[in-house]
Amino acid sequence: MATPAEREAMGRAVVASTAALGAPNPNPCVGAVVLDRDGAVAGEGVTSPVGGPHAEINALQAAGARAVGGTVVVTLEPCRHTGRTGACTAAILAAGVRRVVYALPDPLATAGGGAEELRRAGLEVEEGVLAEEAAAVLGPWRAGAGGVRPHLTWKYAATLDGRTAAADGTSQWITGTAARRDVHRERFASDAVIVGIGTVLADDPQLTVRDWPASRQPLRVVVDSDARTPLDARVLDASAATLVATAAGADPGRRDGLRQAGTEVVELPRHAGQVDLVALCTLLRQREVFVAVLEGGATLAASFVVAGLVDRVLAYLAPSLLGAGSPAVGDLGIKTLADAVQLRVDEVTLCGSDVRVAAHLAVGSD
Ligand SMILES: NC(=O)c1ccc[n+]([C@@H]2O[C@H](COP(=O)([O-])OP(=O)(O)OC[C@H]3O[C@@H](n4cnc5c(N)ncnc54)[C@H](OP(=O)(O)O)[C@@H]3O)[C@@H](O)[C@H]2O)c1
Repeated sequence: MATPAEREAMGRAVVASTAALGAPNPNPCVGAVVLDRDGAVAGEGVTSPVGGPHAEINALQAAGARAVGGTVVVTLEPCRHTGRTGACTAAILAAGVRRVVYALPDPLATAGGGAEELRRAGLEVEEGVLAEEAAAVLGPWRAGAGGVRPHLTWKYAATLDGRTAAADGTSQWITGTAARRDVHRERFASDAVIVGIGTVLADDPQLTVRDWPASRQPLRVVVDSDARTPLDARVLDASAATLVATAAGADPGRRDGLRQAGTEVVELPRHAGQVDLVALCTLLRQREVFVAVLEGGATLAASFVVAGLVDRVLAYLAPSLLGAGSPAVGDLGIKTLADAVQLRVDEVTLCGSDVRVAAHLAVGSD
């Protein structure tokens, strides 16, 4: 049973990891606190950017000799494998701590099992402390890392009557600066930002993290069956890596043109005449895209929803009405209310003068 000091330390570790979310991607953003043998905070750390130490190591370094006989409190089960860095379990054993308290198990087959290893070495280990709070930070990463495709958030900005562009095609900017800044935070938390070719042709977005302190840029992904992305599109600029996902049979000349411009182009199977989104998501997951955000437009969003590839919906709703214009999502093939896609709302907040709604797709008895 975790002590009040350990629970408080876990709360502190969650807060620290929340502030760092996005920086260590594709590694999980973990927070750790080391308590000394009297239960006082001796060190704190979060996961460093890729290739750097994990949270436990940073916290142990900060604690120094005070870790001996103490407790490591950490939001994710300590890893037991040597990957880009050494195993955290080895560092914990070397530091002479007595007890380890963590919130959530590591879903990766290679890294998981650390708790068992520590128990076998004689340490007291407790799982599940503030698991719900830790999942607010680590939930999407755990879903992507433990699954066969990335955790996917579909984000859109719309008027209160659900229009994402006006009848004349104008769509910038529907929401205010606070909402746009929040979108950049969301991008930073992701490994990839995905859009359809329709959005690239209509808006020429750059899709980088700009309005948020960014130590890395997510991969930009354009879903473009026939390699129609213009060579001067801003999404192809040098500010971040871009992947253009085309479908079998796309014009080889256009593909080569994109490659010569320095863009990675992949050829995926066609499904109903367009890019097979399951194949795309499988490919992204293989490339350690664990968390992705889909930024439209309506046509691509509909395909992702119909294919069952959306986990979370993030809507920014502006207090305005358009009456006509593009809907947030295209035809889902639903004819009657009973068949509506069901969501569960997680959060409703004000973002400047806009309303931010975060919801997840209901599964089973959810
Ligand atoms: N307010 C917002 O949040 C927001 C966000 C984004 C966009 N928008 C607006 O939305 C509009 C663009 O949306 P859009 O619906 O026309 O285009 P889109 O959804 O961005 O792109 C659709 C295109 O993606 C390609 N695609 C490839 N594989 C696909 C698949 N499996 N399923 C569906 N599409 C696939 C298709 O063209 P190919 O088959 O030729 O590849 C398709 O026409 C613009 O007006 C933009 O301003 C608004």
